[in-house]
Amino acid sequence: MALNKAAWLRQANSPLEVGDAPMPTAGPTELVVPNAAIAINPIDCHMQHAGVFVQRWPAIFGCDVAGEVHEVGIEARGRFKKGDRIIGHAINLVSGRPQDGAFALFTVVPADKAAILPDSIPFTEGVVVSFAFEAAVCALSLKVPGTAMPGVATPALGLPYPSLEPAAPSKTLIVYGGSSSVGSMTTQIAAAAGIEVISITSERNFNFSRSCGAAKVFDYHDTAFVDKVIEATKSSGREFVGIFDAISTPETYANGLTMLAKLGGGHLACVHPPPDNVPENVVAGMIFAVDDIATPVWRDYVTPALRAGKLKCLPPPLIVGKGLEKVQEALEKCEAGVSAMKLVVEL
Ligand SMILES: NC(=O)c1ccc[n+]([C@@H]2O[C@H](COP(=O)([O-])OP(=O)(O)OC[C@H]3O[C@@H](n4cnc5c(N)ncnc54)[C@H](OP(=O)(O)O)[C@@H]3O)[C@@H](O)[C@H]2O)c1
Repeated sequence: MALNKAAWLRQANSPLEVGDAPMPTAGPTELVVPNAAIAINPIDCHMQHAGVFVQRWPAIFGCDVAGEVHEVGIEARGRFKKGDRIIGHAINLVSGRPQDGAFALFTVVPADKAAILPDSIPFTEGVVVSFAFEAAVCALSLKVPGTAMPGVATPALGLPYPSLEPAAPSKTLIVYGGSSSVGSMTTQIAAAAGIEVISITSERNFNFSRSCGAAKVFDYHDTAFVDKVIEATKSSGREFVGIFDAISTPETYANGLTMLAKLGGGHLACVHPPPDNVPENVVAGMIFAVDDIATPVWRDYVTPALRAGKLKCLPPPLIVGKGLEKVQEALEKCEAGVSAMKLVVEL
């Protein structure tokens, strides 16, 4: 019989400890996945340090998994079967259940936050997609604001879902931080939804951002980049939607508000709580990357788009090593900062 192990967080601000974990079972709408690869996200570092989102101690957290399905809940059997290769978004962040954390040999994922991974894509590549993908859909497609955290609304840009055959762009979105994991995935999903993306990255990542679908890219180290982005947005002649700020620091907020002031206002979709006192013509919100808005896209888009090469597993993985013992090292690398890459651990 298979045994489970996990990289446990026993208290905030302590190193993960690898130890035995209960073997999870699939609820009716769930899958159990033996993880072949897991990926690291900055939220994992916040969880480890501050214990944010931890609802039960000791905790197993982590959001991105890939592997061959071990057990399929009864209501998920139309879409998945044992042995299917999948990528999935584990939701310990909202459920608080240890079995929903990625940093384990076996993890439970909701079937509606999973998709078949084509055979041609290794697990270590596919695993970069899930959490950033759901964040991107949440950033772009909500029609009505929800609640990101008490007193903070989610953005509701109301843009179309991505399509394998997107219409010619009629709207423009600025993606601030287009080489980040969430920024590059939002660039891909927006481009596939027929939105022109103007991206802001370091110069070394211009080609990377273009490969994600950005129409124009500007370097945030260029002292004139704010004016250049404003000019490029005006000259595109398309309807301006607003800014997706994948970095969300005081500096990016200040630059973003300068751009919005010159562009007649619009959405400011942030990944952290938005700035206070935004002008009346700016609608600011903070995304929350777990939402059923992504369900139809998980179901209908992810696998065919991966198969057709229209959804790329970007940013590329940097494989830190193999085994749950490597998760701590990967978290430390994430904390130190990455550029256009996703940290991955093989299991
Ligand atoms: N609210 C939510 O639901 C949610 C969901 C997911 C993520 N997040 C948050 O979103 C943020 C991004 O996460 P991630 O995984 O996408 O991060 P990431 O991939 O680790 O971000 C690294 C990238 O940030 C870019 N960057 C740093 N400072 C920048 C600046 N001033 N201007 C433009 N780009 C800059 C770097 O670009 P260059 O290398 O090109 O310089 C680098 O490629 C994190 O704070 C995370 O906690 C929130």
